[in-house]
Amino acid sequence: MSALSLTNLPPRVKVVEVGPRDGLQNEKAHISTADKIRYIDLLSESGLAVIEATSFVSPKAIPQLSDADEVFRSIKKRDGVTYLVLVPNEKGLNRAIDAGVRAIAVFTAASETFTKRNINMTIEESLDVFGAVTRRAREAGMWVRGYISTCFGCPYEGKVPVENVVRVAESLAEMGIDEISIGDTIGVATPNQVVELSAALQTHLPVERLAMHFHDTRGTALANIVAALEMQIATFDASSGGLGGCPYAPGASGNVATEDVLYLLHGMGIETGVDLDKVRLASRTLSGALDHELTSKTFKALEAAAAG
Ligand code: COA
Ligand code: ZN
Repeated sequence: MSALSLTNLPPRVKVVEVGPRDGLQNEKAHISTADKIRYIDLLSESGLAVIEATSFVSPKAIPQLSDADEVFRSIKKRDGVTYLVLVPNEKGLNRAIDAGVRAIAVFTAASETFTKRNINMTIEESLDVFGAVTRRAREAGMWVRGYISTCFGCPYEGKVPVENVVRVAESLAEMGIDEISIGDTIGVATPNQVVELSAALQTHLPVERLAMHFHDTRGTALANIVAALEMQIATFDASSGGLGGCPYAPGASGNVATEDVLYLLHGMGIETGVDLDKVRLASRTLSGALDHELTSKTFKALEAAAAG
């Protein structure tokens, strides 16, 4: 492996905002539908190109997002912004079509036990379901993203072999899924693993179709992003404020914070098209509805500086 050079990095990065979905689904406090809509509308004004707005999954699985239909219908759809929703099966796709959704995300994992617990399917079954969902979604002209969870480690099985991730990614790519997001669901990855997995994936897939989804559970998310940039990956998922990671809940694993990612990228001279202050405003507005402080370090530093 060559040393980090930090000279040949992508000049522009796409940040996929997942706070309203991955973030909120992990929040304990009940967030009202009106608060979610206001939050997403503020995020829409920041220049983010993709916002994952909600999730059309079973309300029994994720009660926090049981108002998905109303949230999606009510948010202002800004031109140029892709509003993504998570869909687990045909029923979710039907709901998405009824709500006027134009972009969906399907999700599976690289380890069997996690997949079973999360969506009650084997990986193979999930690929069958998503094959059918993806076909119909594409016929309807939708953009389709695919998430693979537990790519760097599974809470039940421990280490996940690189070949298993590559196999699932190839299956998703063959279905015609536009973008594949490689998830470190439990936040265990270190930069060397990111380089290794990125290299393996890129022998099968063009880098333009790959995204990385880091959780900052052990504080390695930004280091992992720098490693992925070195591997020419230019799409990263992040959650405004670091939403989803409650500092008082043991084992809570928040997404890397959008503000922290923007601060890092802008400081490195990489363009995102996103206004950090506007993301911060969205985070601050939502924070009153939460039962804890936001975890984003950049958010906190900017708020403290503004308070004098
Ligand atoms: N939207 C709304 N309701 C749904 C649904 C959807 N997309 N899919 C299933 N349901 C309902 C069914 O109608 C059924 O309701 P009923 O009990 O009132 O008859 C119930 O959920 C169970 O349906 P079933 O098809 O047997 O699914 P399951 O119990 O095997 O659960 C999933 C499978 C995929 C629907 C469920 O595990 C799920 O939604 N998981 C999402 C988890 C998630 O979002 N994780 C975070 C992302 S990483
Ligand atoms: Zn996540």
